[in-house]
Amino acid sequence: MMSCAQAWPEPVVRVQALAESGLSSIPSCYIKPRSQRPTKTICSPQNHQIDIPVIDLEHFSSKDHILREKELKRVSEACREWGFFQVVNHGISHELMKSAKEVWREFFNLPLDVKEEHANSPTTYEGYGSRLGVKKGAILDWSDYFFLHYMPPSLRNQTKWPALPSSLRKVISEYGEEVVKLGGRILELMSINLGLEENFLLNKFGGEDDIGACLRVNFYPKCPQPDLTLGISPHSDPGGMTILLPDDFVAGLQVRKGNEWITIKPIPNAFIINIGDQIQVLSNAIYKSVEHRVIVNSIKDRVSLAMFYNPKSDLLIEPAKELVTKERPALYPPMTYDEYRLYIRMKGPCGKVQVESLATKS
Ligand code: OGA
Ligand code: NI
Repeated sequence: MMSCAQAWPEPVVRVQALAESGLSSIPSCYIKPRSQRPTKTICSPQNHQIDIPVIDLEHFSSKDHILREKELKRVSEACREWGFFQVVNHGISHELMKSAKEVWREFFNLPLDVKEEHANSPTTYEGYGSRLGVKKGAILDWSDYFFLHYMPPSLRNQTKWPALPSSLRKVISEYGEEVVKLGGRILELMSINLGLEENFLLNKFGGEDDIGACLRVNFYPKCPQPDLTLGISPHSDPGGMTILLPDDFVAGLQVRKGNEWITIKPIPNAFIINIGDQIQVLSNAIYKSVEHRVIVNSIKDRVSLAMFYNPKSDLLIEPAKELVTKERPALYPPMTYDEYRLYIRMKGPCGKVQVESLATKS
């Protein structure tokens, strides 16, 4: 079995510091091979632009049974056809969402030496980081991040969270609580849509008190040559489900649809939800995690908050028995999330290679 590396293979360079040094061309370690570079045609207005589905969560508190059923069906279609959707009227305070983004922007705007006190290592990834994967000589992504554990409570250690700005810990505790609650509601909708008992997925994740939830705050600095690099390379999220709070002003997230990359247009105050590899496994691939990536630009930096809602890391995750039949045998062998995530932690973003390679091993 792969084990965790203790240290980064090369000296860490903070992309934000690099960008702020005012360079006009980017170092070669950020230049993607030609075939992986973003192409502009996809975002141009003459290209027809489809949008990911938008789900109105208020409809689920309606007394109107037909309205509820209709919205449930729309969630089902979004999960099957896109693996991505936006949610509005989710009940989380817009003020809190705004504060959460602001405190992290303030954090990234602190002097470098303050941020370096939180420098992370590949053993746990907690803290201030600038790369995913430990392959020496890898082509890197144009972003920095901060990674922290929110759930389970035994892993939540506020002393590992930034002490500055002084409101950060309080704001992020509140934000985490609300977002985790939202995640639970969405898991219920997915369970029902899969024909399972409404608590099925939450229970498989270890139940309310034991689920895993980690926050990855991404900072994408301005880039003088955005056509040569990516903010995050194509990947599917290895965990259960991701609840993303995107930047209000700057688009950047792209979702793969067939051979195209669709740029998501964030709706103000909405969250973007996407399915991760563990729900693909639990649903026996009725739902699929979808590849996505982030493009950067030369005009504005971008901040996003990705809450990864995951199974308790030592539980075996395998296709639900209810979804395994003679005609549709189990596509994946049982595996803990602890084992599963080592792959991305060692190799960095690799599209959907991991979950697809698992399917051939069962
Ligand atoms: C991620 C991710 C998208 C974004 O952190 O896994 O895909 O828009 N982020 O920052
Ligand atoms: Ni992602």
